[in-house]
Amino acid sequence: MSKLKGLVLAGGTGTRLRPITHTSAKQLVPLANKPILFYGLESLREAGVVEVGIIVGETRNEVMSAIGDGSAFGLDVTYIGQDEPLGLAHCVAIAREFLQESDFVMFLGDNLIKDGITEFANQFRARRPDVVAEILLAKVADPHRFGVAELDSDKQVIRLVEKPKNPPSDLALVGVYFFDKTIHEAVAAIKPSSRGELEITDAIQWMIDNGKKIGSQQISGYWKDLGQPEALLEGNRLVLEDLVPKMAGTCDEDSIIDGRVVVEDGVRLIRSRVRGPAIIGAGTKLVDTFVGPFTSIGAGCELISTELENCIVLQGSTIEGVSRLEGSVLGKSVTIRKRQILPRATRLVVGDHSIIELI
Ligand code: G1P
Repeated sequence: MSKLKGLVLAGGTGTRLRPITHTSAKQLVPLANKPILFYGLESLREAGVVEVGIIVGETRNEVMSAIGDGSAFGLDVTYIGQDEPLGLAHCVAIAREFLQESDFVMFLGDNLIKDGITEFANQFRARRPDVVAEILLAKVADPHRFGVAELDSDKQVIRLVEKPKNPPSDLALVGVYFFDKTIHEAVAAIKPSSRGELEITDAIQWMIDNGKKIGSQQISGYWKDLGQPEALLEGNRLVLEDLVPKMAGTCDEDSIIDGRVVVEDGVRLIRSRVRGPAIIGAGTKLVDTFVGPFTSIGAGCELISTELENCIVLQGSTIEGVSRLEGSVLGKSVTIRKRQILPRATRLVVGDHSIIELI
């Protein structure tokens, strides 16, 4: 089996996921309490990739402290700094020394491929050297937000367009690309696009125009950060559906756990009910509380006399006397509580780009 290196993109500023990414890297936003990026790293390892270069930018400190040397994932990680987000093809260019002449898989750290990439990596290996690259595609409802592919009847790629106003198909380029060394020639040949970036779609198109074969495979169970809280909740639901139940906390006799639920170490349930799929992070306390389906509660939270469903609550948050929260995303160390003293008015201390909908 030929060696495949990994190139993981974890730079960028994450404006799409504000306000959650005001203080965090977008690739570290958790789905079912695990950073999006970790799913990608795990699927690389599963596909037999060990040497991984990670492109880091403005949020490098946070990304580097979350991943370290990669040994926790069974990976050997090299960090490659990118000072400005100049495009995906630019990432390939600055990783040239790390990549050498190897075949590699480029993985965008804000993309989630539910069933991993092992099968696709194996297909690419099997089709080499007939194809010089292989792309993954997913049917999406909003192709104009992606790179879009046009295929011939043999599923060979004939054209790629980046964020087209009139998409030629509903097949979006998923953020996972398999390349051989031909890509370096392509990256050196292209010019920045109108948005000032070196586009990977242009580099792939250059290879097509120069008579190279690009394979494609279609996937399902795909998610990427699309900026709205609904999108984050959707990604969370996608991952929660696959939870393997676990009970590592304590539950008093007035509490009930229904369905697929992960209860981490040190969690205490007091007169509370959790209906899965849901995850409750380590050390969190639930008192007189109902946690409904498709909810992820981070570590070290306190939920008291509260009801919530289809929510993401990050670590260290406190919710007290709130009934009921739905479709909400709360950042780290947020406090929401019923005001007990007069005047009975709503009082808010809210950061930039926050969204609050009152009833
Ligand atoms: C990039 C690519 C696009 C691809 C998408 C997948 O877009 O340019 O072709 O469909 O990743 O995540 P960006 O996320 O930079 O807007």
